[in-house]
Amino acid sequence: MTQPVALIVGGASGIGLATAHALAARGDHVVIADLNAEAAQQRAAELGDSASAVAADVTDEDSVAAAFAAAGAAGPLSTVVSCAGMSVIGAIPDIELAGWQATIDVCLTGTMLVIKHAARALQDGGSIVAISSLNGRQPGTAMAAYCSAKAGVNMLVQVAALELAARGIRVNAASPGLVDTPLVAGLAMVPGLTDEYLENTPLGRAGLPDDIADAVEFLTSPRAAWITGSAFDINGGAHLKRYPDVLGKVQALAEG
Ligand SMILES: NC(=O)c1ccc[n+]([C@@H]2O[C@H](COP(=O)([O-])OP(=O)(O)OC[C@H]3O[C@@H](n4cnc5c(N)ncnc54)[C@H](O)[C@@H]3O)[C@@H](O)[C@H]2O)c1
Repeated sequence: MTQPVALIVGGASGIGLATAHALAARGDHVVIADLNAEAAQQRAAELGDSASAVAADVTDEDSVAAAFAAAGAAGPLSTVVSCAGMSVIGAIPDIELAGWQATIDVCLTGTMLVIKHAARALQDGGSIVAISSLNGRQPGTAMAAYCSAKAGVNMLVQVAALELAARGIRVNAASPGLVDTPLVAGLAMVPGLTDEYLENTPLGRAGLPDDIADAVEFLTSPRAAWITGSAFDINGGAHLKRYPDVLGKVQALAEG
């Protein structure tokens, strides 16, 4: 049987990297696409014959198209996972347009470009997962751009699920809570922030990249054949309580 191909955009670190390992373990050939081309190459080499790498910047449509061309050359594309993300922090009166736009460009427009090219390149019956966030449904102070972008991702996924259902292509969001990755290393430096997050997480711990990768593996498998247009919460129950006061904690730090 021909080996199915999975393209993981933003796959060189954190949640995307764990997902690359999970999909390779089930037998997919994994193409790791990332802005950090060197890291993508290294991570693919660690996976051996079951992986390859390509440079990709989700803010550049030609670059996204080239990543899909590389994945298509590896074999029949059955799975696409959109992981690239970043965030700026700041109260609304202090938002700098460049930071707002960078966040929307990577998190929302980047996800749109990945889904657009996935819709063109995927085999019928394939599957897309966009990594959204708890912040797609739960507001957090100082996080207007990120929350808005991820809420947009959740709606984008629903529209894509409607449009692509006729081809049997399923489109879902995976919405993590706090997961220990390089993306959130800076937040861990803000005194009390992680503690407040965990106080509002019923299952009482931060997530591991594998917690999210396992859910993505499920969502992109035949076991999830009747699931599309969902935003799948993977957060230890944090959506049941409230988001920590990021702005208050950052201001307290600035005031010493
Ligand atoms: N870590 C968390 O607590 C958390 C929580 C909720 C949602 N998320 C989301 O999960 C996703 C993955 O985050 P992570 O925590 O694994 O972060 P990470 O920093 O470990 O990995 C993100 C990867 O995306 C790549 N990337 C960044 N900009 C890119 C671009 N323009 N084009 C292509 N690749 C790009 C980076 O090089 C990196 O390899 C993001 O969408 C993030 O918003 C993370």
